[in-house]
Amino acid sequence: MAVALRVDGLYAGYHGGRVLHGVGLTVEAGQVQALVGRNGAGKTTLVHAIAGLLRPYSGVVEIGGTDLAGRPAHQVARAGVGIVPQGRRVFPSLTVAEHLKLAARHQEGPMWTIKGVLELLPRLGERLDHRGDQLSGGEQQMLAIARALLTQPRVLLLDEPSEGLALDLAARVRGLVTGLAQAGLSLLLVEQRLDHAIEVADRIAVLDYGRVIFDAPTAQVRADPTTVQSMLSIDQPLPQGS
Ligand SMILES: Nc1ncnc2c1ncn2[C@@H]1O[C@H](COP(=O)(O)OP(=O)(O)O)[C@@H](O)[C@H]1O
Ligand SMILES: [Mg+2]
Repeated sequence: MAVALRVDGLYAGYHGGRVLHGVGLTVEAGQVQALVGRNGAGKTTLVHAIAGLLRPYSGVVEIGGTDLAGRPAHQVARAGVGIVPQGRRVFPSLTVAEHLKLAARHQEGPMWTIKGVLELLPRLGERLDHRGDQLSGGEQQMLAIARALLTQPRVLLLDEPSEGLALDLAARVRGLVTGLAQAGLSLLLVEQRLDHAIEVADRIAVLDYGRVIFDAPTAQVRADPTTVQSMLSIDQPLPQGS
């Protein structure tokens, strides 16, 4: 199977300190690779290092066979990597229509048009004149996904897209993720909940203290979720006196 994104030996962090310690991860074309891990494990740092928003210290970030590690975000985007950032990052004072026009402005002969994303996300079409700060959390998330699609990605990085959403909206986001993969997109999905990752992913990896400590087909995790669940549970303090 073709590899859409290959990360290998990736070291990254802040101010010279390391957060990622030689991360390796692969996203096959048309597949959903989930990434789970405790708060602070380095998931967002990894997403940013892949997208060119954070310059890694060393390692490989290969998109369609070309190493783009250390390239600026606009070059990585042009190579086909889209990002739906954690917390959505919608502009409060721009309308939905303005967000979409901004996102679409650079691309010619696009796979995704504004018309196309509005067919996929009809709710946004009813909100075109609403400002970012007038949207619900779910609408903001749909807008963040629409905006990323308009950059014509082959690989889409989604950083906790269901965070803070009601369960029915989170389920809609998972439905979208599945549909996009079926349409041929390759997805790296950072997900808080293991049960949700199991529902949509082809593979599930666990990041812990900046290292991938587990990576297996979802069927394996479904058959034995407790192994991964135990990697995600908060460390219990030792009893007094031990
Ligand atoms: N901009 C930053 N500057 C310094 N440290 C950061 C920055 N962003 C994240 N960190 C630190 O890097 C570690 C990993 O954070 P992050 O990648 O956000 O984890 P996750 O997304 O898995 O919750 C944490 O210890 C966090 O405090
Ligand atoms: Mg994060």
